[in-house]
Amino acid sequence: MRPAAVHGYEGSPATGIRMYRGDALRVMRRLEAGVYDAIITDPPYAAGVSLAAKGAGTATKYCDNKRANPLPDFDGDGMDQRTWTLLMADVLREGRRLCKPGAVCALFIDWRMLPSLTDAMQRAGWIWRGVAVWDKLTSRPQKGRFRQQAEFIAWGSAGRLSVNRPVPVLPGVFRHANVAANERLHQVQKPLELMAEVLKICVPGGRVLDPFAGSGSTLLAAARLGLTADGIESSPAIAQTAADRLGVKLTEEV
Ligand SMILES: C[S@@+](CC[C@H](N)C(=O)[O-])C[C@H]1O[C@@H](n2cnc3c(N)ncnc32)[C@H](O)[C@@H]1O
Repeated sequence: MRPAAVHGYEGSPATGIRMYRGDALRVMRRLEAGVYDAIITDPPYAAGVSLAAKGAGTATKYCDNKRANPLPDFDGDGMDQRTWTLLMADVLREGRRLCKPGAVCALFIDWRMLPSLTDAMQRAGWIWRGVAVWDKLTSRPQKGRFRQQAEFIAWGSAGRLSVNRPVPVLPGVFRHANVAANERLHQVQKPLELMAEVLKICVPGGRVLDPFAGSGSTLLAAARLGLTADGIESSPAIAQTAADRLGVKLTEEV
C-alpha cells in the first residue's frame, strides 16, 4: 500500500530516481565510474552493538514496535566500531571512484562515531572539509548531562572544491524536528526538509548517490529539488518501502 501523501509522490513516479535492493558495496562495484556529483548518506551508526549481542533488534532501541504496523528492523546497527570503520572506508572509496572530480560527500553520524567516520572518509581519499550540525530541537533530558540534541554531517570533497560552483553559502546548523513517530516509514527516518537543505551542497541538476538509502528520504528530497539520484538499501522490506514511496520499481542486486 502506498504511504500517505505527505511522505511521497501520490502515485506519480519520481523521475531520474533509481532504487537498488542489495549490499551497498556489491551494488556500487557494478555502477559506472565518474558520474556522481555527490554522495549524501545516512549510514547505520553502529549504536546497537550491546543490544545486538543480546539478540535484540533495532526496534528495541529506536521505536515502539507495539504500533499496529511495526517498522522493520534495519541492518548494520549491531556492527562493532572497527568493522564499521573498515566498511565505511570501503564504501567511501568505492563512492570516490563513482564520483566526478570535485564532487562532495555529506555523511550523517552521531557524536560517538564521528572520529571513526572522518578517519574512514580520509582513508578513502576524500578531503575532509568540515562538520555541520543537525539540531533536532528536542531530546531525552538526562540529569547532570548535556542533552544529546544533535547529530552531525561530516562533509568533504573529491579533490579540489572550486569556489565557483553554482552553490550558495549554506548554513552550518540545520534546525528540524525529528519525524513524528506515528508518521515514520523507517525507524530512524530523516526529515525531508532537512535532506532538502543538505542536498543543496550538490550542484543544481546534479546526480546523487545514497548507498544507505533506508526509506528513500534523500532520493525523494533530491527529486523535489530537480536532482537525479540513485539509492541502495540492503533490507528487502525497507528497500520496497522506499520504492513504493518514490513510485519506482525496485532494482534487485544482480
Ligand atoms: C540510518 S538508515 C537510513 C535512513 C534514511 N535516511 C531514511 O530517512 O529512511 C541506514 C540504512 O542502511 C541500511 N544498510 C545497512 N547496511 C547496509 C549495506 N551494507 N548496504 C546497503 N544498505 C545497508 C539499513 O538497513 C538502513 O535502512
